[in-house]
Amino acid sequence: MKVCIIGASGKLGKYMVQQALDRGYEVVGVCRERSAIKLDAFKGRITLIPGATNNREVIKKAVAGCDGVLTVLVPWGTHQYSSGTAQAVLDFAQPGARLIFSCGWHITRDGRDVYPSSLKREEKLARLLGGLTRIIDIDDQVEACRRIFASNTRWTVVRGSDLEEGDSQGLPVWSRHVGDPILKSNLTRRVDFALFMVEALKNDELIHEAPAIVGRQTPSALAYAQ
Ligand SMILES: NC(=O)c1ccc[n+]([C@@H]2O[C@H](COP(=O)([O-])OP(=O)(O)OC[C@H]3O[C@@H](n4cnc5c(N)ncnc54)[C@H](OP(=O)(O)O)[C@@H]3O)[C@@H](O)[C@H]2O)c1
Repeated sequence: MKVCIIGASGKLGKYMVQQALDRGYEVVGVCRERSAIKLDAFKGRITLIPGATNNREVIKKAVAGCDGVLTVLVPWGTHQYSSGTAQAVLDFAQPGARLIFSCGWHITRDGRDVYPSSLKREEKLARLLGGLTRIIDIDDQVEACRRIFASNTRWTVVRGSDLEEGDSQGLPVWSRHVGDPILKSNLTRRVDFALFMVEALKNDELIHEAPAIVGRQTPSALAYAQ
């Protein structure tokens, strides 16, 4: 299995690199040139292609021959960073490759998610601040996911809850809609978000799904299990 990890130098990306290597996968990583140093611990064990993740030439080279692509979708800047990244992956990944994208609960696939008011407030604030500072563009991440949902590639969009650091609690549980009781705790260990992404590469039941995830040891997940 050869996998490309786009956004490899971030917190989620580094967990995914480690977990892919642990499974014996060949790993190609993409990250900004200035962040390559963050991947020094993996030197000699992965192929690193430095560059902006919305640079189509960079992505074309990185995903060549990969059976799976794990993409960290981030809404940075005002230059279609998210949608440019997603589009390049959709355009250049080899036919049949498993494409797994990360995002947050704020993305909705069918409009049937029911959001807690705290999350609605956070999103509103992020949009407001993003518009004023031009540091982030939430709507571009929404556009990125719209394009993924419309594509006929073998995609999965993993929607992360609030995140925390800490040891793994195992594979997160998931549901199709935010608002489902199992998700109420709204917390996942970042290492387990990565685990869900990497495991999704081999889980065909997740093709064309946008699972919203939550830690399997959280109260809402445990209550549901009972
Ligand atoms: N943080 C949360 O609470 C949360 C909650 C739910 C879902 N998520 C999702 O989880 C995923 C990972 O997010 P994360 O917050 O945990 O952070 P993360 O894993 O550290 O990833 C952030 C990514 O953004 C890149 N980045 C940072 N500043 C940038 C800039 N100015 N221009 C371009 N790229 C830049 C980083 O690359 P460098 O290494 O080059 O800086 C890194 O690849 C995302 O898809 C996010 O939507 C996050």
